[in-house]
Amino acid sequence: MNLIFLGPPGAGKGTHAVRLAHELNIPQISTGDMLRQHVREKTALGQEASRFMDAGELVPDDVIIGMVRQRLQQPDCANGYIFDGFPRTVAQAEALSSFTDIDAVINLIADDEVIIRRLSGRRVCSACSGTFHISRLENPTVCPDCGGTLIHRADDAEETVLNRLEVYHRQTEALIAYYRNKGLLLDVQGGGGVEENYAGVKRALKLA
Ligand code: AP5
Repeated sequence: MNLIFLGPPGAGKGTHAVRLAHELNIPQISTGDMLRQHVREKTALGQEASRFMDAGELVPDDVIIGMVRQRLQQPDCANGYIFDGFPRTVAQAEALSSFTDIDAVINLIADDEVIIRRLSGRRVCSACSGTFHISRLENPTVCPDCGGTLIHRADDAEETVLNRLEVYHRQTEALIAYYRNKGLLLDVQGGGGVEENYAGVKRALKLA
């Protein structure tokens, strides 16, 4: 099954995509995580990407498309994959359709207010990449899964979140109509609790 998780920053794409990928035994492909790894490793791609990411802007389409195309050639993608945060522009979606088929697109819907609250409280593990919200953490600096250090992503600062939301509305929201017209879009409420939203994802995909 080849799936896309679409939605504004903080809608829960990563939270649900990781869990579903684990259940279906297919990889979750987050372009955001791939880019952050390039930044950490100080590759040429990472150096180019970081100035866009720090400002909450999109990284240029050609960089992203090349990176994804290469990732899909890995053997773990043979039985399907879940894209988390890709595509983000119609140009990326069109490029994607030239080299793979998509079975369904989950469109997670959440209000801007919910998103700002979630991202200001998000903590990410620097060791295992697990994502948590401070309201559910006993210790806000230690990963409950692996004991690694939890960090607050630089682009989760409120001013940058507001720009990411603006970029989503301006550049990514058009994909809702794009995939609806192709009959692939499945709307799922992303504003409720984690379990409730995840159940919605599974119902939409007829997996529950
Ligand atoms: P990326 O890493 O993809 O960030 P994003 O899309 O902005 O999405 P997030 O990871 O912020 O949110 P999410 O929807 O995954 O939410 P999460 O599950 O973590 O991209 C970062 C940057 O990289 C971009 O700004 C851009 O520069 C660049 N980039 C990446 N892909 C690109 C592309 N294709 N093209 C161009 N540029 C690209 O949840 C958020 C928080 O809420 C967590 O703390 C979580 O625990 C909590 N939470 C989740 N669901 C719930 C719930 N139901 N109730 C309560 N809390 C919840």
